[in-house]
Amino acid sequence: MSPALPMDQRPTESVPGHWLLARLGKRVLRPGGLELTTALLDAAQLQGKKVAEFAPGIGKTAKLILQRHPASYIGIDEDPQAVALSQEAIGDQGQIRQAQAQATGLESESLEVVVGEAMLTMQGAKGKSAIINEAYRVLEPGGRYCIHELSLRPDGIAEEIKQEISKALARSIHVNARPLTQSEWQAALEQAGFKVISVKHAGMELLDLKRNIDDEGIAGTTKILFNLLRMPAVRKRVMAMRKVFHQYSDSLAAIAIVAEKPA
Ligand SMILES: C[S@@+](CC[C@H](N)C(=O)[O-])C[C@H]1O[C@@H](n2cnc3c(N)ncnc32)[C@H](O)[C@@H]1O
Repeated sequence: MSPALPMDQRPTESVPGHWLLARLGKRVLRPGGLELTTALLDAAQLQGKKVAEFAPGIGKTAKLILQRHPASYIGIDEDPQAVALSQEAIGDQGQIRQAQAQATGLESESLEVVVGEAMLTMQGAKGKSAIINEAYRVLEPGGRYCIHELSLRPDGIAEEIKQEISKALARSIHVNARPLTQSEWQAALEQAGFKVISVKHAGMELLDLKRNIDDEGIAGTTKILFNLLRMPAVRKRVMAMRKVFHQYSDSLAAIAIVAEKPA
């Protein structure tokens, strides 16, 4: 994939699944849907806070954050088109910068909340730890890091099943998705110095009809279904993704964690 190509021109066979879904008109691109995002943002206590979002994507959560009246908002995404789309979504209410979440260029201890959804899962172990360390660095003591990612269950899931799921996700989503179990996510945060203060779960129902009606509304879901009907190549890929989510539905879940940098 060339990040410079507009999303709708990236080849259908290889474009990452989230951009494929965005092309259909899907706006909620994280595993636990709007319900888990809402729970996460509630726990983050955003009003009056200096907030950064890692990987705003198309700016959906950015808008929800801004509705909660933070003192300031800055988004960091590595993809130039995501930067343009999310800046357009929030207008002049905040700034979106193109950078990697591993090295944001933000000042140390300059923020009170960092939010990041559906972006750590797609990093390898080194990338995950670099991004978590960066969140720790930019947060003030007492600040909160709020993540919403894909998780594996149960905690003791066999290594072969883990590998099998990662391969199936990579083949269908075209993203090297490496979800962790709840205790592995917690350990990754604690290793950086965070204290986990809340954990919530939801089913991995990103491509289920009911979840789409909840997240996108009737009109949004109708538009997605209509686009699926008229785009056979996209439909084929979405069906393959859905099949993998269903095949491993017992082992896959969405997880939202709020962690605090000790005061
Ligand atoms: C699945 S989308 C999620 C977007 C948004 N957070 C949401 O939940 O709707 C993944 C986003 O992460 C961004 N991303 C992936 N790795 C990144 C990194 N290392 N630094 C910054 N952005 C990254 C991609 O450009 C993309 O916008």
